[in-house]
Amino acid sequence: MNTEPHAPEQILKKYNQEHLLNFFDELTVSEKEILLSQIHHVDFDKMQQLYLRSKMDDSIPSQRITPIPFLVKKELSADEKSNYSNIGNKIINSQKLAIITLAGGQGTRLGYKGPKGSYEIDVPPKKSLFEFACDNLKRLYESSGIYLNWYIMTSPSNDLATKNYFDAKNYFDYPKDKIKFFVQDTLPIIDINAKVILETPYSIKTGSNGNGDVFRAFSDAGFLDELEQNNIEWVFIGGIDNILLKLVDPLFLGLTVAGNYQIASKSIRKVDLASSDWVFANVDGHPSIIDPKNLDIKDMDKYNQKNILAHLFSVSALRKLSNIELPYHRAFKKCDFINSEGMKEVPIKPNSFKFEKFIFDAFALFDKILLLEIESNEEFAPIKSFTGNETPETALELYKKYYNLL
Ligand code: UTP
Repeated sequence: MNTEPHAPEQILKKYNQEHLLNFFDELTVSEKEILLSQIHHVDFDKMQQLYLRSKMDDSIPSQRITPIPFLVKKELSADEKSNYSNIGNKIINSQKLAIITLAGGQGTRLGYKGPKGSYEIDVPPKKSLFEFACDNLKRLYESSGIYLNWYIMTSPSNDLATKNYFDAKNYFDYPKDKIKFFVQDTLPIIDINAKVILETPYSIKTGSNGNGDVFRAFSDAGFLDELEQNNIEWVFIGGIDNILLKLVDPLFLGLTVAGNYQIASKSIRKVDLASSDWVFANVDGHPSIIDPKNLDIKDMDKYNQKNILAHLFSVSALRKLSNIELPYHRAFKKCDFINSEGMKEVPIKPNSFKFEKFIFDAFALFDKILLLEIESNEEFAPIKSFTGNETPETALELYKKYYNLL
């Protein structure tokens, strides 16, 4: 006989989450339904495991860490560049490449209302981050008559708004049937005592579960099957917030294919070696990106490659990854919550844990990665926040410099 508790009260009691029903009696019928349905869908067991596991020591002994060899684009000869680009172009021209854009993040640092990809910058004309990305694909069409398939990962909270945005913009005049959307998952956000946070008296606060959900979400949406049926062999995966990102790069693809790699990544050189930016490294002989706190100070200069979220995966690598549960990382964030009086509170310092899977943890499933150091000023103009050094203004300046628009 199954003795597991089923009633919401019992489930919440078992996991110490009874506070979720604190305001239940005051809710309307439809609000009660929303809350109960959300409670029903939370995997409290998983949340408990994530909380407990995330408190464990995650440091990596330095003996397990070794440098990853990398190529430097500007050190390649003109002949090498042309030969490898030819290899990549053959694949692109036979439409064996597809593109995935990761746009399921919440963009909390930018704090823009609406999908981050719909945030517009006045070049002029005004262009959204989605349009900057689409420009890459339109340029390819203009030069070779090819429309590549473009898959966009959204989250439950921005999926509809993203699709509406593309509709309103007439898909930037790109063929509508070549742009497809799929939705990643979310997880509840918890406080420092592992209590699930209420966003309103009748709803649980959730957050996207990280860009590493792309492998599962893409496959569950049926798109991995679609790629295989259409004999597509390579997928470029990139973020939405770098307006100089090259979605189609024959040289990068050619180097990856010629070197017999399953996965590849672009990197930029870390100038300030003492900074906390994570770096590429092998851990136990498998590629990874690690927190430099794990490195011996004397070794810092051997680990100078930073991630720009520009990766290539073979379709067979994506198939392998579609069944793998990537680890979750814990981030400590500021998050509004409903307090015990039923009032919304805005904390002034981090108060909650968010769990995210990172796409680069997929590298650990492979023995080697093609790492290509590119020139930051040619391919990296990120927008993360309205303050600091990755703002819309800094990105636009880099973009204008690159395209000689200043
Ligand atoms: P970031 O790590 O910069 O996160 O994402 P973010 O959500 O955009 O912004 P913050 O951290 O809340 O300020 C890098 C890329 O990964 C995507 C983002 O959309 C962006 O393209 N991403 C991130 C997802 O697709 N899903 C996620 O769950 C997280």
